[in-house]
Amino acid sequence: MSIRKKVLAANWKLNLAKEGIGEFSRGIRQRQDGDIELVVAPPFPYLRDLVVESSGEGRPFTVAAQNCSDEESGAFTGEVAPGMIAGVGARYVIVGHSERRTLFGETDEMIGRKLDRARAAGLVPIFCIGESEELRDQGKTLETLRRQIDAALSTAGGDFGWLIVAYEPVWAIGTGKNATPEEVRGAHQAIEGFVAPHLAGGAFSVLYGGSVKPSNAAELASIDEVDGFLVGGASLAVDTCLGIYDPMRG
Ligand code: 13P
Repeated sequence: MSIRKKVLAANWKLNLAKEGIGEFSRGIRQRQDGDIELVVAPPFPYLRDLVVESSGEGRPFTVAAQNCSDEESGAFTGEVAPGMIAGVGARYVIVGHSERRTLFGETDEMIGRKLDRARAAGLVPIFCIGESEELRDQGKTLETLRRQIDAALSTAGGDFGWLIVAYEPVWAIGTGKNATPEEVRGAHQAIEGFVAPHLAGGAFSVLYGGSVKPSNAAELASIDEVDGFLVGGASLAVDTCLGIYDPMRG
């Protein structure tokens, strides 16, 4: 079943210089009170730096990778295995982001294998789904979400301790466009229904992503079915990140 564990995940994508890490973690450390799981997903080379910054008293955030291989070892130049990500102290991994699907050709089946590998390595996957503008215009939003969920989770198998699903409508990512609260509520309710039969009793959370920012965070956070956010652009600066974090505390 869905659990109401609140998560704010910052996906830095291919942004932010290494020098920005210290400022970001100092700003977060001053505010974080532990009620909300704040997850930071930096580019790979900064994973260990973020793990070190987030350790010690008060653990201000946990760390995620933005992607992982669907292989654990072998002749796969340029790939990074889930076990390696877990080995540097990260706890989560984003799997199946729409940019991976559209720009790097990831299929639902590959995403399913990544979910499986990530789980085997002890990582909590942040499994991304979402419809394109074209499919939305054709009235195929829920059908698309169901297909993405069924294909990936039937490949991965269902035994997750905790799975995070991130609903990110592709047309809302980086565009400033948002799904309406009614659209978000409807999609999240449907996602809960699609995911639950695949999971062997494990818990899951459903995050929303796509142009989330301080000015719309309160309205979106007030939707019962929204367990938190996956944020790109607005997660790069401490102020805007906290501007989303604060309304989540309710
Ligand atoms: P934006 O918040 O920049 O729209 O990006 C959303 C996203 O893709 C997070 O993974």
